[in-house]
Amino acid sequence: MNIMVVGGGGREHAIIKKLAESSRVTKIYALPGNGGIAAEAECIDIKATDIEGIKDFAASHPVDYAVVAPDDPLAMGAVDALQDLGIPCFGPVAKAAIIESSKVFAKDLMKKYGIPTAEYEVFDDMDQALAYLETAPIPTVIKADGLALGKGVIIAQTRDEAKAAVRKMMEEKAFGESGSRVVIEEFLTGPEVSVLSFTDGRTVIPMVSSQDHKRALDGDQGLNTGGMGTVAPNPYYTPDIAHECMETIFMPTMNAMNSEGRTFQGCLYFGLMLTDKGPKVIEYNCRFGDPETQVVLPLLRTDLLTVMEAVTQQKLAEIEVEFSSQRACCVVVASGGYPSSYEKGYKIEIGETDENTDIFIAGAKLEDGELKTSGGRVLGVTSVADTLEEAIAAAYQNVEKISFEKAYYRKDIGRRALEVERS
Ligand code: AMP
Ligand code: GLY
Repeated sequence: MNIMVVGGGGREHAIIKKLAESSRVTKIYALPGNGGIAAEAECIDIKATDIEGIKDFAASHPVDYAVVAPDDPLAMGAVDALQDLGIPCFGPVAKAAIIESSKVFAKDLMKKYGIPTAEYEVFDDMDQALAYLETAPIPTVIKADGLALGKGVIIAQTRDEAKAAVRKMMEEKAFGESGSRVVIEEFLTGPEVSVLSFTDGRTVIPMVSSQDHKRALDGDQGLNTGGMGTVAPNPYYTPDIAHECMETIFMPTMNAMNSEGRTFQGCLYFGLMLTDKGPKVIEYNCRFGDPETQVVLPLLRTDLLTVMEAVTQQKLAEIEVEFSSQRACCVVVASGGYPSSYEKGYKIEIGETDENTDIFIAGAKLEDGELKTSGGRVLGVTSVADTLEEAIAAAYQNVEKISFEKAYYRKDIGRRALEVERS
């Protein structure tokens, strides 16, 4: 089969590598892909947000199945457009992708169906939001309604900070129209867990849990990033908690979307916080997480294309989805300065990596046959081993084999998870 994958980051590289393992896959097109993905797929210079371009390409090439990975094209209706052409597709249609593209939609859905989440208020009037903040409990969390590249969430420690955040979103439009409505919500505490799941609207199959490391620097210091590393599984996520999440969050969310006439088929990502009052939803994503995918998919034992097709055909209940009991650790290597400004165009050298290690390229392009940095998060090094300790050690040993100017990475990916495992 010929597969078209829309997207071009580390997550897409992990998806494509897994698909390429399938004996049923003959060719993969990546739109636009990147310099690393080019080793596994034919990269086509069409942006992931160019829905017309994607449609034209799919209509004029022998594409048997499509995977739309990033949030923007999903929210823009890429899956709807491909389905109109008769191409089966992995990913939710736009009216289901709204679970990520509108935080107000997601919060109202949870309230209506009794799914545990932080208490919240919604404002589309700035003065009302500011007045509410006079008495709101502090710290508080301000979220822009729409997609904001993961930057539309501000945790305010003081009333002034909260008001400044509201002004930044609603008056200065720091996140564009995404900020014309804001959610102000209760600040929750507890360990965070990411659970990606396959769902076809009838069955939810959670994948192995994972833990992201969002801050730029060691010890969870510095600015928020797209994610500096991950481990899987997440040791906080015990079988009891998994069971509770299935009953109180996963199935209720799938059923709620069905009841709203927004059946979700694809990867539904649950961003959870394990509070002392039980697991609560921090966010939903309508897609695979990045860099969660880079630790979750290497542990998947079942043929990914078979699972994806079962989701499209609503036959997930008929297949067995198996994960390895091993552990995975992904360390992201980023450009110096990221997530603020950074330079691009540095040559990337990659030495001989171990057999249990994958390099997932995120921000690099091929120039005259050389791989050069082209993004903030340049690549992720994922190692799989029998124990978490070995997986972490292997990932760091292999990170040593990567070099480019001004490269930096966190030195403590998985450290907390290891402490929890040992306690
Ligand atoms: P999001 O973009 O929704 O994933 O939020 C980014 C990060 O902000 C999350 O991973 C949490 O660490 C934090 N966060 C979001 N909502 C809350 C909340 N209600 N309480 C505490 N932390 C939160
Ligand atoms: N790693 C978080 C996300 O993909 O949104």
